Amino acid sequence: MENKNFGYFDDKNREFVITNPATPFPWINYLGNEDFFGLISNTGGGYDFYKDAKFRRITRYRYNGVPMDNGGRYFYINDNGTVWNPGWKPCKTPLDSYECRHGMNYTRITGSKNGIEASVLFFVPLKTWAEIQKVTLNNTTSEKKTIKLFSFAEWCLWNAATDMENFQRNWSTGEVEIDGATIYHKTEYKERRNHYAYYTVTNAKINGYDTDRESFIGLYNEFADPQCVMAGKPSNSLAHGWSPIASHYIEVELAPGESKDFIFMLGYVENAQEEKFSAEDIERKKNGTLISSQDSDVTLVNKAKAKALIEKFSTVEAVDAAFAELAQMWDALLDKYVVKSDDERLNRMVNIWSQYQCMITFNFSRSASFFESGVGRGMGFRDSNQDLVGFVHQIPSRARERIIDIASTQFPDGGCYHQYQPLTKHGNNDIGGGFNDDPCWLIFGTVAYIKETGDFSILQEPVPFDNEPGTEVSLMEHLRISFNHVVENLGPHMLPLIGRADWNDCLNLNCFSWDPNESFQTTENNSEGSKAESLMIAGLFVVTGKDYVELCKQIGDNAEAERAQKCIDSMVEAVKKHGWDGEWYLRAYDFYGNKIGSNECEEGKIFIESQGFCTMAGIGLEEGMVDKAIDSCKKYLDCEHGMVLNNPAYTTYHVEMGEISSYPAGYKENAGIFCHNNPWVIIGETVAGRGNDAWELFRKISPMYLKDQALHKVEPYVNCQMVAGKDAAKPGEGKNSWLTGTAAWMWLTVSQYLLGVKPTYDGLMIDPCLDSSIKEYSVKRILRGTEYDITVKNPNGNQKGVKSITVDGVAIKGNVIMATPGKHVVEVVM
Ligand code: GLC
Ligand code: GLC
Repeated sequence: MENKNFGYFDDKNREFVITNPATPFPWINYLGNEDFFGLISNTGGGYDFYKDAKFRRITRYRYNGVPMDNGGRYFYINDNGTVWNPGWKPCKTPLDSYECRHGMNYTRITGSKNGIEASVLFFVPLKTWAEIQKVTLNNTTSEKKTIKLFSFAEWCLWNAATDMENFQRNWSTGEVEIDGATIYHKTEYKERRNHYAYYTVTNAKINGYDTDRESFIGLYNEFADPQCVMAGKPSNSLAHGWSPIASHYIEVELAPGESKDFIFMLGYVENAQEEKFSAEDIERKKNGTLISSQDSDVTLVNKAKAKALIEKFSTVEAVDAAFAELAQMWDALLDKYVVKSDDERLNRMVNIWSQYQCMITFNFSRSASFFESGVGRGMGFRDSNQDLVGFVHQIPSRARERIIDIASTQFPDGGCYHQYQPLTKHGNNDIGGGFNDDPCWLIFGTVAYIKETGDFSILQEPVPFDNEPGTEVSLMEHLRISFNHVVENLGPHMLPLIGRADWNDCLNLNCFSWDPNESFQTTENNSEGSKAESLMIAGLFVVTGKDYVELCKQIGDNAEAERAQKCIDSMVEAVKKHGWDGEWYLRAYDFYGNKIGSNECEEGKIFIESQGFCTMAGIGLEEGMVDKAIDSCKKYLDCEHGMVLNNPAYTTYHVEMGEISSYPAGYKENAGIFCHNNPWVIIGETVAGRGNDAWELFRKISPMYLKDQALHKVEPYVNCQMVAGKDAAKPGEGKNSWLTGTAAWMWLTVSQYLLGVKPTYDGLMIDPCLDSSIKEYSVKRILRGTEYDITVKNPNGNQKGVKSITVDGVAIKGNVIMATPGKHVVEVVM
């Protein structure tokens, strides 16, 4: 069985099952899928937030803690002096058994010790602003057991950034209320905040609690030995400032063989200004049934919404029903594209994990993972457009809304903020702008949406500039200015000026930074007089420009289509003339007009991005450029774990190139295997009809084919951003898992270019590119409500080219199946 060291796939349940808690890095999962979210590691570490991991952080987690993975939702069991956690951490008491099942938006952690089995199911019910933790305690012995259960969560003071730095304020502001089994966190509620959080047990009485961290843990104790748990006695502490926490204490008696369920719920509430406070509670505070760390009676929080939700989830039946609903949602989401083939890893990737990761990246862009602290980055303009391409078939209406949100942050000249904040949806000045590839991605995202849905009406949506009311123009107009942004910013070779950078955030050709305290992303961008041009943008422009032309034709604007086509033709010519190095495409010209990514360079002779996009665009296909470029990628970039970004790696700092040369050789953008751009080459290979090569690279990048989980280090069930390249100390070591454009690109690659089932404006295009060993597979695809059951046969082991297609037994011309209602059986022979 694969992954034998740390876990295995359970495809039937759509789970990855971790059997050894000491994974090489915390292996995490995501809870929630719309407003309320949580990150959870295989030991229960992680945190919750509402919409925005920076501005509405609900609980604390410690990044880069020692040991790793510190802070989370912890359950402690004190069984007659033996203290343990079902998820092993933080006590790390050796368990008799341990298992963590990461599934679709839920995680179930089960541990056992001395005859007690404790299983915790973590999930966020649909449309609910709360995380449920259903704790099941089971006495497997033949004796009666009395155990002490403690819960634990630590409140974040809402803004995750200031929570980590503004201690002169933070250590005085914390406030809580305790009402029965519910602990309310209400720091700053009496002033400008209209939200509070709470942690409760919905179906049982508690025997004590703690809300002050020091009282619970002890000043010099740790998560691993909280003094209250060790002593088996809560201190019923009331937090006044310092670090407020929430811990419940429950004494549990279990008869032999008996099992009991406790429903814990950690929730978030927003109240309108006029409904913030509760008059009734003043009485309860007086008679002692309500405890508050505030002096003022008139600022007691209005608990109505929390109480309603507590009531709703006060039975195991209600919780189980909500959990079943979540599973049904995933049944439906994963039913839109289902492959059946002889390769169980391919099936697993396509039918489960790739689509799941695509939803996660759609939700979070690059904001919150165990690598992204949730404070620096929100929704990237380019990232989010790419992410939605992996997600649009799942819930098109959410992709539609996202496109409008993204476009609303654009400037009238087509330029963009590089990133916007999910809570406010406004562009973030701190992260800057001027990345000249950004506008192209809006075309990329919008076209994917229309091809999936056939909804051209989105093009007429009024969309503002920089979120300024009154500036609205149609989305189509935003696309036009996006296209023009490239055309209007050409350099001396008529190639696109790079601006601050292109897709490669680290190729900073105009910043010349010598100050280690400045960020390459936001420091001065000396574009004045710059000759820095990008071949990556050139390729991207041709790819998305062709889409733009086709779209213009679809809406009957032939004049615009013609104008745009001319711009594309000139770009193609410019690439052939000034962007070809002989064996591969150049990468760029620098500020002074010198070549980057050329055989003439000492280091960084060849780069992957321009090979990917120019081959995808088919530039110079007839002249043999595509094939030559791919051969060069295989020769210079490829290694056991995938293709590196550039070769040879930079070994010294080049001020004229910026951050790329700041990384040690073999890591990140300096010759790391940046998984995100490997699929570009795979698609390029399909353009050239090189199926064997395409599948070989696909299998290197897809985590399902991983050989060595310990070396790979990060989660073996999702892609990571970067795998250390051949120049690194430990090639094959992965980093930055989950939130990466790799998710959407791998999905696009395997679903549309390898298996070859591709939505078009008219219907479905069937254009597989196969490894010659693949002789047959089938795909069920639901597009615009119609189901297509497609069987592809490849008796001669061809790599590309469709010989015949029948739809419901009738042969069709060409390879596009028109979208007509009903259910269709499609047979394809290659
Ligand atoms: C990160 C960024 C992405 C960028 C890439 C290469 O993944 O999120 O926007 O394109 O790095 O620098
Ligand atoms: C750094 C990273 C790059 C990322 C960027 C975003 O430059 O190397 O991958 O896209 O930061 O802030």
